[in-house]
Amino acid sequence: MNDVSRGTPPVPDTARGVFSSAALPVVERYAALLATEGVVRGLIGPREVPRLWDRHLVNSMALAPALADGARVCDVGTGAGLPGLVLAIGRPDLTVTLVEPLLRRTTFLSEVVEDLGLENVTVLRARAEEVRGSSTFDVVTSRAVAPLGRLLEWCMPLTSAHGHVLALKGSRAAEEIRTVRPLLGRNGWAPPELVQVGPDGVLLLDGTTTPNEDPSTVRAVRVRWADPARVSSSVGRAGSSGPGTTPGPGRRGRGSGRPRPGR
Ligand SMILES: C[S@@+](CC[C@H](N)C(=O)[O-])C[C@H]1O[C@@H](n2cnc3c(N)ncnc32)[C@H](O)[C@@H]1O
Repeated sequence: MNDVSRGTPPVPDTARGVFSSAALPVVERYAALLATEGVVRGLIGPREVPRLWDRHLVNSMALAPALADGARVCDVGTGAGLPGLVLAIGRPDLTVTLVEPLLRRTTFLSEVVEDLGLENVTVLRARAEEVRGSSTFDVVTSRAVAPLGRLLEWCMPLTSAHGHVLALKGSRAAEEIRTVRPLLGRNGWAPPELVQVGPDGVLLLDGTTTPNEDPSTVRAVRVRWADPARVSSSVGRAGSSGPGTTPGPGRRGRGSGRPRPGR
């Protein structure tokens, strides 16, 4: 892409605390691409530029302590690459698939991946529902994509038997968890956990932990399968090194489709 070094907000101390010295120049370049091409192409609003670091990049990277070494991660509804692309930059041990249906966004993402020389990222132009049945992942992340119930219907089928969904959620997270309770049993989902992720690791927000409002700490909802042994391993495994899965009892085979490769 073009020379985009001008007009990028300076790197704040919070970013120096969460990105390694090797990752920092790469994420700086990504910030510059977002602040220029990303704005010109309508992927992020111009008003986001001054708060690019804390609100978007540091906020995305805050999820990193929740991801095991070498995890296969799928970021659903990644938009301009948040949080998935940031995690791929900050954690080269991860293998990250960015799922996004809009061509304008996947074109930008593919160009960024090439520009940054990232070898651990695949860009997939698809709706989450279309990925179902073709790939499974250790962790399925998302930020600002859909209400929790709909999000779980899209994302749980993409998780492996021992995998989980990790959805960044704001202050209404506890309320959203209450609304999905009626859906748990019939889908085979374990009760959602409200967690705080950041430099202190993953802490359950069960009323005994004081919420941390620091930008390098985020609130997320984590959902696992209630009974991993009942998650079928009979589905195709394209892109998956772990067991293929279908969702909980009674939901096999609905809604699968063919993703449109974005690269
Ligand atoms: C509000 S944007 C959030 C983008 C990014 N995650 C972020 O935090 O900046 C929601 C994104 O979800 C995508 N999306 C909507 N429905 C989807 C679906 N069924 N599967 C995958 N992505 C979807 C949209 O195209 C859009 O890019």
